[in-house]
Amino acid sequence: MRLIDIFVLNKCGSKKQAKKAIKKGLIQVNNKIVDEDIDITDETVIYDSKILDSHPLKYYIIHKPSGYVCANKDPHDPCLITLLPDENLHYVGRLDRDTTGLVILTNDLKLRKRLTLPEFHIPRTYAFTCLNPLKDITPFKEGITIDGDVKCLPAIVEMTSEYEGIITLEEGRYHEIKKMFLSLNNKITSLHRIMYGDISLGDLESGTYRILTQEEINHLKDITRRSLCNISKK
Ligand code: URA
Repeated sequence: MRLIDIFVLNKCGSKKQAKKAIKKGLIQVNNKIVDEDIDITDETVIYDSKILDSHPLKYYIIHKPSGYVCANKDPHDPCLITLLPDENLHYVGRLDRDTTGLVILTNDLKLRKRLTLPEFHIPRTYAFTCLNPLKDITPFKEGITIDGDVKCLPAIVEMTSEYEGIITLEEGRYHEIKKMFLSLNNKITSLHRIMYGDISLGDLESGTYRILTQEEINHLKDITRRSLCNISKK
């Protein structure tokens, strides 16, 4: 990561202020004053007598309990972010208040954007229960229309019983799954996200979080890079 980005992500100031600090010789890397923006891997960066975090990009996965909202502030309900050790994070694909399961949070805004934009086709998988038996899953393959005129991308549905199944979407519109079922005169009674890309919730307990492994982060970056290649070919 570039020195300037480390300065900004450590909340030392803006990019402009980082450039000025470098020019004035106020930043040391491995105890030597630097005079330009350089790549940092594991070096010790000091600014204003403070050692900066040279790995400031953070990636977490949390098991969202029901009743929490994916917001930073809410007048009525507890915010999911309060269960994490760092409040400077952004949700990667929000879940409804009553939906449970996997949520990724990060301050890597470039990756977050790529993981959420529908053009990137990142799969998100949910276990669901519905009110009425679901016999015909063909409308999901064709793309269901919600909100009167919004055609959803095709979704994959596998039923495990008449009322329960697994659904995979490649986009994340507001209340999308609930609205798809309403369009079919059915109703979602429970929704639980189990995967995002290749990241799986596994046996992470409700209300707890963990840091993503380097392998998982690399995987997320890889799938978004592959999608980006497909987008540029179109
Ligand atoms: N679709 C929904 O309807 N709700 C969610 O929380 C996620 C996907």
